[in-house]
Amino acid sequence: MSDRIAIYPGSFDPVTSGHCNIVERSLGVFDKVVVAVLSHPSKTAMFSPEERVDLIRRVFADEQRVSVESFDGLLVDYVAQRGSSSVIRGLRAVQDFEYEFQMTMMNRRLAPQIDTFFMMTDAEFFYISSRTVKEVASLGGDITGTVPPLVEHAIASKLAQGAAQ
Ligand code: PNS
Repeated sequence: MSDRIAIYPGSFDPVTSGHCNIVERSLGVFDKVVVAVLSHPSKTAMFSPEERVDLIRRVFADEQRVSVESFDGLLVDYVAQRGSSSVIRGLRAVQDFEYEFQMTMMNRRLAPQIDTFFMMTDAEFFYISSRTVKEVASLGGDITGTVPPLVEHAIASKLAQGAAQ
């Protein structure tokens, strides 16, 4: 039987402990997980797409079943090109549902063979988002545990660069 490959797409600006928890949980269900970083540049992003990919690669350096790539264009095209028909998305509280529902149904309209699987993180990560982590860090708050240690260092050096400018 061929490997069951899941694509886990997102902005990952930057990857959080919640994202990592979703990857780990996905490895319990799929043989391989491809973390797919949206390469579309955003004006408000803290990290470039290349930096985001690099951070996730370093976090999962010891996990052979995880690969990290960037993608642009339609997600469904990328998923098909990677030989997969499974998309993973993390679902947090109620507010995620509408956005995820719309995206899933639009993707299904475009590519009916692709299924989206929703996973919930462990309770300790349920409320974490990249946006709030960046906000807390930029205001001098403690973000320990909300992101992997190497990401925490990367955020600190970004903020230090910004302060020096
Ligand atoms: O982490 P995010 O920002 O919630 O991830 C959103 C992402 C990257 C999954 C979504 O924006 C996406 O799939 N973009 C690729 C373009 C696309 O296929 N758009 C149609 C989806 S309805």
